Amino acid sequence: MISNIVLTGFMGTGKSSVGKELSKIRGMTFVDTDDEIAKRYGPIDKIFGDHGEEYFRECERLIVRQVASLSAVVIATGGGAVLDPRNVEVLSDSGEIFCLVASPKEIVKRLTKDKGIKIRPLLISENPFGAIHELLADRQNIYEQFAQFETGGKSPLEIALKINAVINDKN
Ligand code: S3P
Repeated sequence: MISNIVLTGFMGTGKSSVGKELSKIRGMTFVDTDDEIAKRYGPIDKIFGDHGEEYFRECERLIVRQVASLSAVVIATGGGAVLDPRNVEVLSDSGEIFCLVASPKEIVKRLTKDKGIKIRPLLISENPFGAIHELLADRQNIYEQFAQFETGGKSPLEIALKINAVINDKN
């Protein structure tokens, strides 16, 4: 039996909305590392602005360790959390990691719809599409180490049901 379920993947791939659906299906508590960071340290864009990315990653590492110590939770990570192998280690020790994927076009569409680009410091650029392409290419090898779920054209509930079926097959 796996204890926690961890959802990772690039910004705008739907980790939080899928995670909430999955937590309902499985009767587990949903935790979002970005929300926990914001609760403890303040808004993410302000952390980046005031202290830089390295400091943000330190906050993220502490929160990842904390949420990974919980049990029976569905964890949605920030898209960059798995760039740090120490986070991957604690998260995989705590449960199973699934990665949500979407095309750059879909990501831009989703993030533009909810003004998500403005609150994501790594995407603030004259050319957010280019920034997304570049970051995705840099991170491809990292995301590929996890079971991947394509999210394009599917609802969060559909994706959650798919992941749930995979988990049920394994147990
Ligand atoms: C980041 C993703 C964001 C947030 C921060 C950095 C990243 O979370 O943690 O802006 O490096 O991919 P979401 O993936 O929830 O947008």
